Amino acid sequence: MAEFKLPLNSIVKTGKYFNCDNSDKTNIRIFKVYRYNPDDGANPRLDTYEIDTSQCGPMVLDALLKIKNEIDTTITFRRSCREGICGSCSMNIDGRNTLACTKSISDISDEIKIYPLPHMGVVKDLVTDLSNFYKQYESIEPWLQADELKDPTKERLQSKEELEELDGSDECIMCACCSTSCPSYWWNSDKYLGPATLIQAYRWIADSRDIKKKERLDFLEDTFKLYRCHTIMNCTDACPKGLNPAKSISKIKSLILSNKI
Ligand code: SF4
Ligand code: F3S
Ligand code: FES
Repeated sequence: MAEFKLPLNSIVKTGKYFNCDNSDKTNIRIFKVYRYNPDDGANPRLDTYEIDTSQCGPMVLDALLKIKNEIDTTITFRRSCREGICGSCSMNIDGRNTLACTKSISDISDEIKIYPLPHMGVVKDLVTDLSNFYKQYESIEPWLQADELKDPTKERLQSKEELEELDGSDECIMCACCSTSCPSYWWNSDKYLGPATLIQAYRWIADSRDIKKKERLDFLEDTFKLYRCHTIMNCTDACPKGLNPAKSISKIKSLILSNKI
């Protein structure tokens, strides 16, 4: 049997322990947080924080903000909206990719383990390098390409039915939880676009006002860009917005097929 060993400098070590000196320990929860600083040359480590959850909001992001504001200002993570809209606080919590701002602390029993999104380069602590992810998003030209001959001062109307075609894809907030849970994306993220970019691609293909449907489908018809999806379905399981990127991918495949008949 093949045996794989991690390079020594990537082994996650036990880090610092931050006690909570609150005498009433009833509301204390243990948070174990991945820490990595490329500038200090040290291995990544797992720091442990005792948090009195009666002294912070109910979500995992609230606890992280408490750590940053009151215990350890060096901890680094992304966040903005704090209500599941911007997609910036995605991370791996309790073994699942999700949004820290919508993940309730009380949903997790035992210790709360927090890591960056898997299989991505780590910039620092919980911040991953999303450069390739956004480059792939840019490649699908995620903007409306409408008929320029139509009067630009007039609204481009859609029927209720046409608008409904976008349901299930235009709610995507590009948090990357799905792509970073997809084994095909782990192994081929340089060439496979991944479920997040593909659900966004479908969003524009399905838009009745867009006139580049054929060009968009032609661009995606590629062994790697699209067909590296092997219907593993982790993406749909991971999506914190309850979307189904696997379904959008299969719709793209069907459209390509039906365009050929
Ligand atoms: Fe995030 Fe869901 Fe969009 Fe994937 S489909 S990027 S998990 S919102
Ligand atoms: Fe990956 Fe989802 Fe396809 S997990 S292989 S993108 S169905
Ligand atoms: Fe915006 Fe969590 S902070 S989605």
